[in-house]
Amino acid sequence: MATILRDWSFACAPLYEAIASGAAVLAGGERHFRQVAWQNVSLSADSSVLDLCCGPGGATRYLAATGARVTGLDRSERSLRHARERLPGVHFVQGRAEAMPFAGASFDLVHTSVALHEMEPTQRRTIICEVLRVLKPGGTFALIDYHRPTNPLYWPGLALFLWVFETHTAWELLATDLPGLLAECGFSTLKQQLLAGGSLQTVQARKPQV
Ligand SMILES: C[S@@+](CC[C@H](N)C(=O)[O-])C[C@H]1O[C@@H](n2cnc3c(N)ncnc32)[C@H](O)[C@@H]1O
Repeated sequence: MATILRDWSFACAPLYEAIASGAAVLAGGERHFRQVAWQNVSLSADSSVLDLCCGPGGATRYLAATGARVTGLDRSERSLRHARERLPGVHFVQGRAEAMPFAGASFDLVHTSVALHEMEPTQRRTIICEVLRVLKPGGTFALIDYHRPTNPLYWPGLALFLWVFETHTAWELLATDLPGLLAECGFSTLKQQLLAGGSLQTVQARKPQV
């Protein structure tokens, strides 16, 4: 699955961002889409935040606007070049989410938007364990990603979008119980919210204090 538009969108950050903004309309617009996963997490200049799989920085810029110390990590140097140009105050690191170059207990918040659907199931589990490692005790993992629509009217649009832009891993995510997976990996206090007819989900999970 996926079409040439997937390759073009990853090769061209402005095209990727235009597609993301267009799709975000269904989730209440770009601003809401970019902040909804972590909107109730209190952040200050003392907070350290990781935007995991940050791409060209579409969500990173909203995290940076809180005044928190923000780090963005992605494996794509091309995306990071774009992110560094637009957000010179943010520390961007090239790396793999499966083996992050950070000490344990480094972050108060790890955020990831529309990235877990890119991963194979075992890879996704490894990444979730890595997130648990780099979070401080009591820290929050907040994510937004696809979900199986609860409103059948949203199926055709989502199916078309996945066919054009995504691979089998996105379809596989629709069959995955993400809160259940996070709980299996050791997270607690799980909150899931569905958006856009259930075709998107946000999940917040906490690293236990002990
Ligand atoms: C669909 S994009 C999402 C980008 C951004 N979070 C956003 O909301 O626009 C997925 C991103 O995950 C990155 N990525 C995929 N697998 C990765 C991995 N194993 N480690 C680090 N980054 C990865 C890709 O390079 C890409 O930038």
